[in-house]
Amino acid sequence: MAAAAVKTLWLLHGVNLDMLGRRDPAHYGVLTLPDLEAYVCACAAARGFAVRCYHTNHEGALVEKIHEIVRDGADAVIVNPGAWTHYSYALRDALEMVEAPLAEVHLSAIEGREEWRRHSVIADLAAVRVSGRGPEGYAEAVAALADLIAREDRR
Ligand code: DQA
Repeated sequence: MAAAAVKTLWLLHGVNLDMLGRRDPAHYGVLTLPDLEAYVCACAAARGFAVRCYHTNHEGALVEKIHEIVRDGADAVIVNPGAWTHYSYALRDALEMVEAPLAEVHLSAIEGREEWRRHSVIADLAAVRVSGRGPEGYAEAVAALADLIAREDRR
């Protein structure tokens, strides 16, 4: 049997996530962004994904990266938009064009925090949503996306 082709997984980080390691560890843990990316890459490789990572603190830059993903295609996307989660309709409109299955991941449990954090403007676009599980939440999202793609492939 031929080996399964490696699939492309985009890992997108929004505003302030480059400051992981300096942000409140009670919510965001102690890993830095490079640590987190290395962890996700390892989990994803075990599930047959090659990961491409992107971080920006600029909303328009993230929108343009998503346009690129829409044009070039991808097999799956994980996004943690940071605070943009709660109000960026521009980000939502861009993500709406992504055909690949989307996972929304938050390190902290946004549902149990301040009122303004409880709402996600991208929630209904995500096939997979994980919050409050720290870095392991990303591994859970990878596994859920891999299972979803495998189910689709069997159809
Ligand atoms: C976050 C939660 C957001 O409310 C916050 O603005 C972040 C990170 C998380 O991963 O828990 O920057 O998305």
